[in-house]
Amino acid sequence: MPKNLSGRNFLKLLDFTTEEIRYLLDLSKELKRLKLTHTPHRYLEGKNIVLLFEKTSTRTRCSFEVAGRDLGMGVTYLDPGSSQMGKKESIEDTARVLGRMYDGIEYRGFDQSIVEELAAYAGVPVWNGLTNEFHPTQMLADLLTIEENFGYLKGLNFVFMGDAGNNVGNSLMVACAKMGINFTACGPKKQMPSEKLVETCKKIAAENECTITLTEDVGQATKGAHVIYTDIWVSMGEPDSVWEERIKLLSPYQVNKEVMANAAENAIFMHCLPSFHDLKTTIGKEIYEKFGLKEMEVCDEVFESRASKVFDEAENRMHTIKAVMYATLK
Ligand code: CP
Ligand code: NVA
Repeated sequence: MPKNLSGRNFLKLLDFTTEEIRYLLDLSKELKRLKLTHTPHRYLEGKNIVLLFEKTSTRTRCSFEVAGRDLGMGVTYLDPGSSQMGKKESIEDTARVLGRMYDGIEYRGFDQSIVEELAAYAGVPVWNGLTNEFHPTQMLADLLTIEENFGYLKGLNFVFMGDAGNNVGNSLMVACAKMGINFTACGPKKQMPSEKLVETCKKIAAENECTITLTEDVGQATKGAHVIYTDIWVSMGEPDSVWEERIKLLSPYQVNKEVMANAAENAIFMHCLPSFHDLKTTIGKEIYEKFGLKEMEVCDEVFESRASKVFDEAENRMHTIKAVMYATLK
């Protein structure tokens, strides 16, 4: 049954029903088919969108740009530091100005309250391209990638390893609860999602016949798991001073070949990216010089293995972001 999401914001998955998420995933599959068969789909010709970034990005920015153009729209990119927002102009005023010129606004930045405030004043759909608390467009790409691999979602066992209370860990817990996937956060107590969010997700999970588990036990968490997911140990916006403690706390939760061997035979590895799996980055090299680690949240061997679906996941960002824009702007 087609859902009408026209005019809606996309700020966090908690705002959407299971059926609405299902609709967005099905729409993503159709838009992916059109793209891969080179079938034009300029359904939003004449509209314009603005991408407001207060943090850096490769995947999210490029996905919004390419998806926007594929749909026939004009796209403006505002990079971190190049708009007046925050310093010389309030969020409320920025929202009211951009809403007069654009049909949709993407925001990547800091507190969730900022994107919520933009949405309250813009008068046009606002999409969350990552905040400190949530990363909802990433979730649609992740769910699509899981479904492409297993053919279904409900009943799968999903494990997030490491910094489970970050924006991606929080969002995955919500996404799994909504779609009937058993979710386990495996990491140190200090880095777990907030009690409030866990309680909310447990209620949603009960409605969808799945479970939410928090554990420090890697062997127990990953045994027979279908999806092993991790993210970087220090997120954008966090100070460099936390690296030392994070390395100490999160090293036992690195995804390595023992973890994958303990998972289901057909288990897949996922990561939102970017990832520190080798020494080919400036930060990776700095961490190696300071702490002697050659790879962090995931070993290069797993990252490069057949089980790794990270680049399918990255591609799916574009198809799913296109679905969000089409559904909310049509
Ligand atoms: N996964 C993700 O959001 O990547 P970017 O930071 O490159 O946008
Ligand atoms: N947790 C990471 C996700 C990047 C896509 C960050 O916020 O930096």
